[in-house]
Amino acid sequence: MPHLFDTLIRCVTLIDGSGAAARLADVALRDGRIARIDAPGAIDPDAAAHVVEGEGLVLAPGFIDVHTHDDTNVVRQPEMTPKLSQGVTTVVVGNCGISAAPVTLAGAPPDPMNLLGHADDFRYPDFKAYVDAVAAAQPAVNVAALVGHTALRSNHMDRFDRAATPQEIEAMRAQLEEALQHGALGLSTGLAYANAFSAPTDEVLALAEPLAKAGALYATHLRSEFAEILEAMDEAFRIGRHARVPVVISHLKCAGVANWGRSTEVLDALDGAQRWQPVGCDCYPYTASSSTLDLKQVTGDFDIMVTWSEGAPEMGGRLLADIAAEWQVDLHEAARRLMPAGAVYHCMEDADVDRILSHPATVVGSDGLPNDPLPHPRLWGAFPRVLGHYARDRELFPLTVAVNKMTGMSAERFGLSQRGFVREGYWADLVLFDAATIRDAASFTDPMQPAEGIASVWVNGELSWQQRQSTGVRAGRFLPRGAD
Ligand code: ZN
Ligand code: CU
Repeated sequence: MPHLFDTLIRCVTLIDGSGAAARLADVALRDGRIARIDAPGAIDPDAAAHVVEGEGLVLAPGFIDVHTHDDTNVVRQPEMTPKLSQGVTTVVVGNCGISAAPVTLAGAPPDPMNLLGHADDFRYPDFKAYVDAVAAAQPAVNVAALVGHTALRSNHMDRFDRAATPQEIEAMRAQLEEALQHGALGLSTGLAYANAFSAPTDEVLALAEPLAKAGALYATHLRSEFAEILEAMDEAFRIGRHARVPVVISHLKCAGVANWGRSTEVLDALDGAQRWQPVGCDCYPYTASSSTLDLKQVTGDFDIMVTWSEGAPEMGGRLLADIAAEWQVDLHEAARRLMPAGAVYHCMEDADVDRILSHPATVVGSDGLPNDPLPHPRLWGAFPRVLGHYARDRELFPLTVAVNKMTGMSAERFGLSQRGFVREGYWADLVLFDAATIRDAASFTDPMQPAEGIASVWVNGELSWQQRQSTGVRAGRFLPRGAD
């Protein structure tokens, strides 16, 4: 007789993603979805083809990494081990103004699009081509995508140090509209980066206009995370109000020593805006940031580690200050000689990260950089670090709240329907983990380490990760906005 269920996960401590209290339950899966949730021991094990004993373990919705730069990696490295190993079952790509699609490059990818890969990794002149490529690659995790403003600028502008003309904005809008038709979640900007900084607010206002009709959102790496952060937040809120769409502030932080302690003020501004419009933010659980090496962020106030360099490849893994001393030049001159390069900036304070991560409008996003040879440990460790270090060890918030910040709230904010919660009828993206031992093993010196304490991960009902290794099954899909 055929089985009623494909998989039964028995007697788990269920944290359903809503923030509600944990409860004991049996959860049965069929055809990629959660078919039944019942009292522990209530579902007959003989009714399922596979039975997993979950006693003592937490079953939660698969984690949603809302802030990634995995655009080309989901195609080139579809195993997606850095994410799957943490219990991540969905990634949102296209953040910080940079996306793999729609892109037509004239030469090398401009900064910071070079974080996504080399010129030949950009193969998607329109968004539909990217959707098809993800489907063909069958990555191990689901993929949803934003369209990057800097990517659109690069398609239509001969130089970045000026505002786009009305004709150029029109051309960018047409590409954005094509992407929205094929399920893009929204528009992202990276206004702090040199190649977008010359875009005035009006350029973004005009570009953002088609978002509302599509039910899409606006995500932004603010124009400043330093002294002018409040002004930068105001700009983001204004764009959201004009376009009538929700605003997501990416990796909200107080960067730079002079800015430490301002998180209270910054979060008050967020709360204030929430009275008028939907706003939220994401955050990664570390006091160091990482991106390309940027002269504007070079300082002697804190350690800056060079992770890669085209100017002096042998300097990868060394502190900028040590390199400058060895070369007998100042920090800025050393940085100039290293560029293009990547860096980790130890630019934040613990108390600010604690406050921002704890805020009720904050969801977790890794901002991991998968193409960095010495990646910031957030790439492999962000989600277990929130569950282990921040929720369990430091008791910053309960485990149920931590899970909500990486599942249910994330799905609702980004419009990923029937994901992010353990509910009957929802897709069976699930992670089974040990709340007592879950831990990020990735460190700044040894960053490519899978997390500990993840027992099993299911993507669309398929067992994809177990006992610290991939099962070889890759069951991820492209998730168009609003799809059931
Ligand atoms: Zn960013
Ligand atoms: Cu980013």
